[in-house]
Amino acid sequence: MELEKVIDENRQGEALLVPGQEGQRKLFLESYGCQMNFSDSEIVASILGQDGFATTKDYREADVIFINTCAIRENAEQRVRNRLNEFKSWKSHKPDLIVGVLGCMAERLKEKFLEEEKIVDIVVGPDAYRDLPQLIGKVQGGHKAVNVILSKEETYADITPVRLDSNGVTAFISIMRGCDNMCSFCVVPFTRGRERSRDPESIVKEAKELFDLGYREVTLLGQNVDSYLWAGGGLKKEILTEEQRAHAVNFAQLLERVALVSPDLRIRFSTSHPKDMTDEVLHTMAKYNNICKYIHLPVQSGSSRMLDIMNRGYDREWYMDRIRAIRRIIPECGISSDIITGFCTEAEEDHQDTLSLMEWSEYDFSYMFAYSERPKTQAARKFTDDVPEEIKKRRLSEVIALQQKLSEKKTKAQVGKVHRVLVEHESKKSDEMWMGRNTQNTVVVFPKEHFKPGDYADVLVERCTATTLIGKAVKN
Ligand code: SAH
Ligand code: SF4
Ligand code: F3S
Repeated sequence: MELEKVIDENRQGEALLVPGQEGQRKLFLESYGCQMNFSDSEIVASILGQDGFATTKDYREADVIFINTCAIRENAEQRVRNRLNEFKSWKSHKPDLIVGVLGCMAERLKEKFLEEEKIVDIVVGPDAYRDLPQLIGKVQGGHKAVNVILSKEETYADITPVRLDSNGVTAFISIMRGCDNMCSFCVVPFTRGRERSRDPESIVKEAKELFDLGYREVTLLGQNVDSYLWAGGGLKKEILTEEQRAHAVNFAQLLERVALVSPDLRIRFSTSHPKDMTDEVLHTMAKYNNICKYIHLPVQSGSSRMLDIMNRGYDREWYMDRIRAIRRIIPECGISSDIITGFCTEAEEDHQDTLSLMEWSEYDFSYMFAYSERPKTQAARKFTDDVPEEIKKRRLSEVIALQQKLSEKKTKAQVGKVHRVLVEHESKKSDEMWMGRNTQNTVVVFPKEHFKPGDYADVLVERCTATTLIGKAVKN
């Protein structure tokens, strides 16, 4: 899932805890990057839990330290290297300690990681987590261990994730893995491999189990959820016959199946891709109250010329048409975006196109980044990273300032209105307040009264900050 994304910022570097029993081997697992990585860490905890590991929040207690890494931008990788440095001195006190790197940076650097960071014993890519117990055994036998094989089939469909550091209310469900899009700036296709969808039965089953455990919101995860398609085990999207395609389950149909688990289970999803988002998905969202009225629809740039060299598969007009469709079919829908400033050859005029499209789209929220060249990508191979750092940063600050203004306008318009909020956990700022979200994904804070996490409350908004609504519960 980051702006490192907000989720990343909130959870960056957070240790994940499953209480263990005396004498069990202990695992310290730290995750960086997108929601997908946090979701993968829950798979890792499950696989190693089966192998007798309990997780710990204190790395000094751990027999094994794993960092689940992100490679999306240079600074994401730098953060991991800094963290490895911190573990270095600890390992000198504890020579048996095993240190492993998982995830996208592991996949990108492969064996090179072992040469570059001497502290690392294990390197494992996102499709090889079933091999972890064996790889740990190899290290205990005195060897270094690497498995970075990417798979065309692996979806970990049969593995029940261990919900780590959970609030017991909201959970992620991975519905697909990999990405086939090859946006020219992006490293993800290289670190996560080919796109593959997960069996819908296993997704619905996971949602049902979560609901029965008391969870009230699931977020369906994929790099491009609109391209989800399940035609049966082993059947690849590209080679389907007309008939197989007609019988396949698409994203709109999957959404509907999950929505039918219970009207009290909220459904969210991320990420939607403008080139693939269909009206069918929007109509399904409009039809079910429990599908949240919020779409993360990353634009990246407002300039059609930039979108073309970014290889995004749409232009400004197409993107505007998608926003119009959302506003027409789901008028109350919250919309957010991702924006990159200073991509190769970006001129002032392109930047102005981004600002004007943001203004036109009236985003509730955006994740905004300065372009960071990533090895192996099309942009790194074919284009020059020619926008000077200070110009990238200046444009980024303009984009951030505009988004701040747009967000403020959006939240102010909510004052005086009543919002249905799912209570998640205690507010970070006050132990007398709950924090939850409305359907549009805006954070709402209100006095606890008799409510508890997992309850729905109707909250009258009395005031706001740029991104938070503050109010009190009303009787409905
Ligand atoms: N699959 C999602 C994006 C996943 S990566 C999508 O297509 O929308 C999350 C965000 O990181 C991207 O939307 C993009 O805005 C940003 N990003 C990706 N590569 C980047 C790079 N090389 N430099 C800066 N930002 C980048
Ligand atoms: Fe990267 Fe594009 Fe795939 Fe998103 S859709 S993960 S930006 S290649
Ligand atoms: Fe996610 Fe970072 Fe990998 S954004 S897919 S963890 S490169």
